[in-house]
Amino acid sequence: MQAGSEGRSVSTNTLKRLRGLLSRALGRGREAALWQQMQKLHPWSYTPTHGIAWGRDGTSFPVVIDRARGCRIWDLRGKEYIDYTMGWGTTVLGYCHSEVQKAVRSAMGSAPLLAYPRPIQAEVQSLLERDFPGITGVAFGKNGSDVCTLAARLCRGYTGRKTILYCGYHGWGDFWAEQHGFSRSSIPERHPALIHRFRFNDTGGFMALFEQHRSDLAGVMLEPSGPWGGNDIGCEPDADQGFLETLRLATRSVGALLVFDEIITGYRYLEGSVQRARGVTPDLTCLGKAIASGMPLSALLARGDIMQVAFGKAHYGPTFQAEAWSFAAAKATIEVFHREPVALHVWKQGEALRQGIDEALRVAGIPGHVKGPPFRMSICFGEEQGEIRELQRTLLQQEILRLGVSIYNNGVMLPSYAHDDTTLERTLEVFRAALIIVGRATRDGSLAAKICIPLLREM
Ligand SMILES: Cc1ncc(COP(=O)(O)O)c(C=O)c1O
Repeated sequence: MQAGSEGRSVSTNTLKRLRGLLSRALGRGREAALWQQMQKLHPWSYTPTHGIAWGRDGTSFPVVIDRARGCRIWDLRGKEYIDYTMGWGTTVLGYCHSEVQKAVRSAMGSAPLLAYPRPIQAEVQSLLERDFPGITGVAFGKNGSDVCTLAARLCRGYTGRKTILYCGYHGWGDFWAEQHGFSRSSIPERHPALIHRFRFNDTGGFMALFEQHRSDLAGVMLEPSGPWGGNDIGCEPDADQGFLETLRLATRSVGALLVFDEIITGYRYLEGSVQRARGVTPDLTCLGKAIASGMPLSALLARGDIMQVAFGKAHYGPTFQAEAWSFAAAKATIEVFHREPVALHVWKQGEALRQGIDEALRVAGIPGHVKGPPFRMSICFGEEQGEIRELQRTLLQQEILRLGVSIYNNGVMLPSYAHDDTTLERTLEVFRAALIIVGRATRDGSLAAKICIPLLREM
């Protein structure tokens, strides 16, 4: 190398470093100001470290995110993270998929919302009809909670009964949230309660509850694969075929409706949905999250005469239900699902992630496992004492964020089509390093001393 070119490359590197330092410093100032501004009026935003932006040793944590692409997010200081939260699971394709971006940009040539339906709505309806054969009614919403609430009303309106049995998470609508009681939901409680929970894959438990409520049973609603079971259980496994079939037969035997909440599993499950892969057909299906790759759209699909009988009694009419930019995103997204092996890739990556983290836990000498089907999994520590598990979870979160990997506070991870092999390898390197630290700190009793973010409490 010539002396001159060496000199130039040194100064270019120095310049780059200076630029990096400057942008990090500016990002830090801007972030602090934004954070304070947001906290003033809305202190409830999600941040994995509850607003702690800097560790004692100067490590930065993400508080406000600037941009996202593929499976990566960047904070205001330009620090990059491999992300497994994927916008609360709203994209399976990855952030800013080029075809979805193009479709939305082109739809922006016209207004997002008219009082009249537009052709793009019919196109999305046809795509859903193709993927969920036999549906005779569709209603759209913006959030999963819209269509879960509508599903509950249709169950009640159609059957003339009131009780709903459920398993999984179904949003923040009153019908579901009232199980939390007045003190935690501000929804007036009813006695006797109208909604009751059964455990996933617990056929005996379900049948006992079913027998108790059969005379007033309006519907059974569940996430048909891997629902979140709480911090101690983590993500439940995939469904037993017999469990799903029992639910189908039992509901049919009393004229109640079966609702599959496929808001997570829709287009993430092999063959596009649990119902298609397993051959168990519900009466109502809730879709959301993945169908429009990050744009706000949800859909309620109905079979048979349910809509004719009950829709008119459901008082359902959100203003933004026919918003066209999200339909454009949904059309582009579903067409990619039809053309490319998206779910297969997600399952393959998820399975490799599970095996890699399980192995890293073993090497680090930490009891624990990754639980749940490959499209949505959670890391669960196996220590007996809840306090130790809480410390381990917190230290793991801190250490992986330090190294540039972002997951949910409760250990949940959603791999996507954008998580490629290189990303997977880097993720596993990060987990191996972080779990070694967690393992050592568990053994020498220094977990609490190593943590500089607030404790992630059991929920
Ligand atoms: C299975 C399931 N159903 C319903 C919902 C509620 O959806 P939203 O938050 O869009 O209202 C969620 C959200 O996480 C979900 O995972």
